[in-house]
Amino acid sequence: MRPKPSIESLKGYQVSPIQYEIQLDANESKNFLFPKGLNIKDLSINLYPDNQALDIRSEIGKYILIDSKYILEGNGSSELLELLVKTYVDKNEVILSYEPSFSMYKIYSQIYSTTFVGVPSRSDFSLDIQIMIDYAKQYNPKLIFICTPNNPTGYLIPKNEIKRLLESTTALVAVDEAYMEFTDGLTSMVDEIHNYNNLVVLRTMSKAFGLAGIRLGYLIGNLDVIKDLNKVKSPYHLNALSQYVGVKALQMKDEVRKNVLEIQSRRNELEVELSKLKFHLYPSFGNFLFVQSDIENLGDLLKNKGILIRAFSNELKSYYRITIGTKEENEILVHRLKEIIYENINNN
Ligand SMILES: Cc1ncc(COP(=O)(O)O)c(C=O)c1O
Repeated sequence: MRPKPSIESLKGYQVSPIQYEIQLDANESKNFLFPKGLNIKDLSINLYPDNQALDIRSEIGKYILIDSKYILEGNGSSELLELLVKTYVDKNEVILSYEPSFSMYKIYSQIYSTTFVGVPSRSDFSLDIQIMIDYAKQYNPKLIFICTPNNPTGYLIPKNEIKRLLESTTALVAVDEAYMEFTDGLTSMVDEIHNYNNLVVLRTMSKAFGLAGIRLGYLIGNLDVIKDLNKVKSPYHLNALSQYVGVKALQMKDEVRKNVLEIQSRRNELEVELSKLKFHLYPSFGNFLFVQSDIENLGDLLKNKGILIRAFSNELKSYYRITIGTKEENEILVHRLKEIIYENINNN
C-alpha cells in the first residue's frame, strides 16, 4: 500500500530518538507546577471525557479574560493548527507563512495537498508585514499563519502590524502565540478577537505552563469559526487526564507567572554569556535564543558532550535555537561551550 503522493515526499516533524543529559532542543520548560505529583484517584477514566471540555474552557476563559464560548481546546495547539488546515483549505488552495517559522505549518499544508508559499523574512530575520500583505494580494491565500514571537527566530510582530494585515485580506489569519507569556502579553491579539472576524489566536500550555506532556492547547475565535472547527474535530479529542491537569494548572497562574519571570531573567543571563563567547544573537521574546555561530558542527559537538540544541540545515546552516534551561543547565551549557571553543583553538 502506498500513501497518497503528498505523503510520499513528506519529511515529518523531526524529533531526536536519543535522550541527552540536557535537552535544550524543544522549547519545553520544567514542570514546576506539580513537583509532588498529582492525585488522580477520582477520575472516571472508564468513561469518555467531556466532549465539550466545559471545565477546561471555563478556566482558560478566566485566564485570558474571554467568554469560554469563543474557545476551543485542542490536543496540543498542533491539533488545532491541523484542524484549521483541514477545515478551511482545500487541495491546491494557498497557505502563507513567513520563513523560517514553525515547521508544522508547512507539514500540515503538504499533508492536505494545499500550496504552501513561504514569505521571506528580512536578512536579520525580522518580519516585514508589508511583504506579507503583498504576498497575500498576489497569492490570494485561504489561511495565513503568523507566529509571534516567531519560532525559531524569536521576533515579535507588533499588534498594529497584524491589524494592518487583517484589514488588508479576507484570508483567515491564525496568530500562533505559543510563546506569548514570555513577552508580558502586550502584543497578544486575544483581545482583538471581537474586532476581526478573520482572526483566530492559538495558545498552548506546553511552554509557559511547563506542561508539554499533557498535550493541551487552545484556540480563540469567533462563534462561526468555533462551530466549523467543532464539526471537524474528532470526538472526545482531549483526554480526561489532560482536562483534569489543565484545570488544576490554570488555577495556579501566580506560580506560572513566577516561573516566566525566572525564565526571562535566565534568558538575559544566557544572552550575556553567549555574546561573551562571540555568538551572534538575535532579539528573542520566547523561552529560547536564536543564535549564529561559526563553530563548525556545533550541534554535533554539543551532542558529544551530552547536550541537545536545535541545529538547522540548508540556508540556516550555522544557526541554532537553544531553549532556556534551568540555572544549572545553562551553566553546564556555557561551561561545555567554553570547552569546545578551547578544543577548537588547540586543534587548529
Ligand atoms: C510556534 C509553535 N506553535 C505550536 C507549537 C505546538 O505546541 P503544542 O505542544 O501545543 O502542540 C509549538 C511547539 O513547539 C510552537 O513552537
